[in-house]
Parts: sequence; structure tokens; C-alpha cells
Amino acid sequence: MSSLSKTSFQEMTFLDEMIDQVIILDKSRNVCCANKSAFTRFGNDINGKNISLILRDAKLLESIDLAINNKKTQIVDIEIKLPNFEFYKANIIPGPSKLCNQDQSVMIFLKDLTEIYKTQQLKSDFVANVSHELRTPLQSIKLGLETINEGHATNDFESQKKFLPIMLQQTERMESLVSDLLSLSKIELQEHIRPSIEIDLDEIINHVIKINSDLIKKRKMKIEYSADKDAHKILGDRNRLIEIFTNLIDNACKYSEENTLINISLHKKSDNFLFSIKDHGVGIPKKFLPRITERFFRVDPARSKEAGGTGLGLAIVKHIVNQHRASMDIISDEGKGTEVTIEFPKA
Ligand SMILES: Nc1ncnc2c1ncn2[C@@H]1O[C@H](COP(=O)(O)OP(=O)(O)OP(=O)(O)O)[C@@H](O)[C@H]1O
Ligand SMILES: [Mg+2]
Repeated sequence: MSSLSKTSFQEMTFLDEMIDQVIILDKSRNVCCANKSAFTRFGNDINGKNISLILRDAKLLESIDLAINNKKTQIVDIEIKLPNFEFYKANIIPGPSKLCNQDQSVMIFLKDLTEIYKTQQLKSDFVANVSHELRTPLQSIKLGLETINEGHATNDFESQKKFLPIMLQQTERMESLVSDLLSLSKIELQEHIRPSIEIDLDEIINHVIKINSDLIKKRKMKIEYSADKDAHKILGDRNRLIEIFTNLIDNACKYSEENTLINISLHKKSDNFLFSIKDHGVGIPKKFLPRITERFFRVDPARSKEAGGTGLGLAIVKHIVNQHRASMDIISDEGKGTEVTIEFPKA
């Protein structure tokens, strides 16, 4: 740094303040200068190294040649696959630069767009998933309508009897998918707004058990609920909390054999309240637990679909839990059962 002139020194200080990585190459494509961010990202020993040893990307190397030969700025996207996925936009500006005492140098500005890229990827995966989830029931409705339409002239009542219930069931499936999607998008928008109304958790849990009594009876499940006597006041959104407990009771019923027990409890835990719902059902294999709250993720898609599931329940629960500044934990033993706990901060 001692050989830098005053202006070069100022330039370097300015570059060091940048979040973007800046690397300056000499005419042999070796690093002659880099800013702090580049050293942090690519290592403190990059000075003097050839760029091909730092960023092995054919497009980048080609663009550096082009920038130097044509004396024109080049812009190129760089994808690094290993060890972790990274995505950069590189601006390659041909020299000379005061920071590199050579006529032919080239400055590379790297903008890290990994997070934006990943978000975009998630969005397009989501659209693809939604389209797929809607197309399946839609195809079966279309098939039913075509068959009934063909038999219409001959009064084919058999086809009508066979296909109408299927079409109704598939329409209901699409309806619940659309309503879950709406719910998810609403809660995502409001996640940062913490509810401010005092709510009694015990009262809500009792209410949810009551409104789900038909489902519980149908599945012949036994529910045992125990709660500490004191008031269980939290800051909450009543309808959203109902959504959480309904989803969790629904899962406990759906993924358990008939005639089994579901234990629900609400206890004080230092300054918080700990809600727990424990079933003795099929459980979740350990390897799937980290993905269980992802949208559309199901351990057994066939079983979930048969039970009318859209795979959005736990994703919705997770966002509502976040909105309440609560934390959720899921532990499960395959073949033995699952316990979901949520710790709510006291009002
Ligand atoms: N209590 C549980 N026991 C075993 N597996 C569970 C349990 N809860 C959830 N799962 C697994 O996690 C997956 C995702 O659950 P989630 O509630 O998000 O979706 P779903 O139940 O399939 O559909 P939806 O809730 O939208 O009706 C389920 O498909 C199931 O494989
Ligand atoms: Mg569910």
C-alpha cells in the first residue's frame, strides 16, 4: 500500500468501504489489487493469483479477454455451484487503473445476488407447484365432464353416477387449495405485525376441540386436554390461533390410526406458555423433519391427498407462530407418534 499515491489511496479506501467485491487484474490476469470484501470472500492470499484459480467460470474468463481486447465493459452472470450455490453479476471494466501500475488492467466488480436469485427461484418453484396441484384435480374434472358429455345423448346415467361425486370431491380439493393459498399469502403480508389483543389460550383450545368434535368422532380419536389453572393470556389474533390449533388437531387425527389418543396440554414455562399436542400416529421420518413446514411438502403425498390435504397446513402454522413471536418445535418418532410444541410469550 505504501507505493500508492494519495489519489490511489483514497480510491482504495473508497473500494474497501464497498460491500461488492472488487478485484483488479494485471495484463496476465493475475490479481494486483483487491478490496476488503474480495479478500474476505476469496481469501487473504489472492494477491498475485491468476483469476482462473479464484473464479473458475468460463464465461467470466471469456468476458475478461473480450473487455481487454475490445476495450469495452462486459457484464456477465456467474454461478458458483460448490461448496454452496452463489450467484454474482460481474461488471468487467478495462483499465488502466491507478491502483495497478500497468497500461492494460481490468477491474472486476462482483455484485452478490445469491439471496435475490434464491427468492426468485422459490417463487417460480411455488408457481410450478401451485399449477401442478391445481392441474391434477382439474384434469379429473375435465375427464368426468367429457365422459358425461359423450353419454349425454344416450342418457348414460351410470357415468353420471360414477363421475359426479369424483368431480365434486375434486372441486372441493381445488377450493381448499385456493383458500389455503389465500390464507398463506395474507398471513405472509401480516407476519411483521404482532397482534395486540389479549387472548385467553385455554379458552381458544377448548373452542377448537369443540368445533372439531365431528372430525375427532369420525376418526374415533380420544382427546385428553390438560391446562394449568391460571389465566393464559397472550397477545394474539383469535382467528389465526384457531387456524393453528385446527391444523394441528387435523394432522394429529389424519396421521394416526383410529381409536388412538391425542394429548394436548397448556402449561406455564417461566415467563411463557407452552402448548403441546402429541399423537401416537405414523410419525415423521427424521430426515424429513427439517422440510416439514415447507409449502406442499408431504411425507406420503398419496396419504395426504386421500385425506384431503394440500400440504400447506404447517406452512401456514409456521407463519402464524412467527407473527405471534412464538416458537415451534416438532419432534417425532417414526411409527410411534409426533409432538408439536409452541411456546407463546405471555401478554
Ligand atoms: N402429526 C403428524 N404425524 C405424522 N405426519 C405428519 C403430522 N403432521 C404433519 N405430518 C406430515 O407433514 C406433511 C405436511 O403437513 P401439512 O399439515 O403441512 O400438510 P397436509 O396435512 O398434507 O395438508 P393440509 O394441512 O394442507 O390439509 C403431511 O403431509 C404429513 O406427511
Ligand atoms: Mg395438515
